[in-house]
Amino acid sequence: MIVVFGATGTIGTPLVTALLAKGVQVRAVTSDPAKVDALQKQGCEAVVAGFDDPDALAKACAGAQRAFLVTPADLDMRTWKANVITAAASAGIKHMVMSTGLGASPKARLTFGIWHSESQELLKASGMDWTLIQPTYFTQNLLWQAGSIAKDGVYHDDLGGPVSWVDARDIADVATKALTGEGHEGKAYGLTGAEALDGAAIAALLGKVTGRTITLHPVSAEDSRNAMIASGMGGEVAKAMVELSALAPKGYLAGVETTIEEVLGRPAKDVETFISENQERFSG
Ligand SMILES: NC(=O)c1ccc[n+]([C@@H]2O[C@H](COP(=O)([O-])OP(=O)(O)OC[C@H]3O[C@@H](n4cnc5c(N)ncnc54)[C@H](OP(=O)(O)O)[C@@H]3O)[C@@H](O)[C@H]2O)c1
Repeated sequence: MIVVFGATGTIGTPLVTALLAKGVQVRAVTSDPAKVDALQKQGCEAVVAGFDDPDALAKACAGAQRAFLVTPADLDMRTWKANVITAAASAGIKHMVMSTGLGASPKARLTFGIWHSESQELLKASGMDWTLIQPTYFTQNLLWQAGSIAKDGVYHDDLGGPVSWVDARDIADVATKALTGEGHEGKAYGLTGAEALDGAAIAALLGKVTGRTITLHPVSAEDSRNAMIASGMGGEVAKAMVELSALAPKGYLAGVETTIEEVLGRPAKDVETFISENQERFSG
């Protein structure tokens, strides 16, 4: 039995699908009782547990051999991950695969790198075998502005430099390998796509796929932070997001890792394919 925390999210959704396709027994954890039915229909055991509910987390871990953990980017994410790590270790789970972020290490100086590193060090000290999945920007983030791209034909670029976007399905497939295969213990997998694309390149791909003119609109750090806060994100988290984005104009988010190809034996999914698969959402 593999227990998946964050099972209904950007990484968790394709991960559950991939694990079930391999015939693995999956226990999907959600904090939302309304999602249980759909998970069960998919073929999972589904349990309700909040990241801040140690008793429910203990029940979610009982009897499982391996676990996957991802939490949303949140001011409480270190506490949430600590709660799950404690519950999993106490329940005798042997191996945890945890998704954090590219560049997370004790040497990290950015807020997200520091936060993720704290969780990573906690997992390493837990006594469980561990594998770290460390992705860069998700290609799926493009869907956050699919509505306005479709409506106005404008791509809002809050990065301002090249980024080696990674598809969450590749993240899920690497996690599936780590959860179901051998030899992934003690490994940290930095994950990026195979090429770095800047805002102009993304706008050009959106235009090519939708057959429309997509205009590039650069977004300042201040406007970006204000938009995130207006959408409900906490101020500290929005500040950490903007801090991370500020690496892009310096070229620091353009590095390409070959891990996906090495682990999966196939190339990373490219951004154009993702846009094509979601063409209707980007089209007016
Ligand atoms: N987006 C990026 O470009 C990017 C890049 C690098 C790293 N990251 C990191 O990746 C992580 C986000 O991954 P993701 O997008 O897959 O996660 P996500 O979709 O934001 O969240 C995963 C799931 O967590 C569950 N959840 C939310 N609050 C909960 C709570 N209080 N208790 C229990 N479950 C709760 C939600 O499911 P239910 O509603 O079913 O409970 C949600 O579907 C963050 O740590 C972020 O820093 C993101």
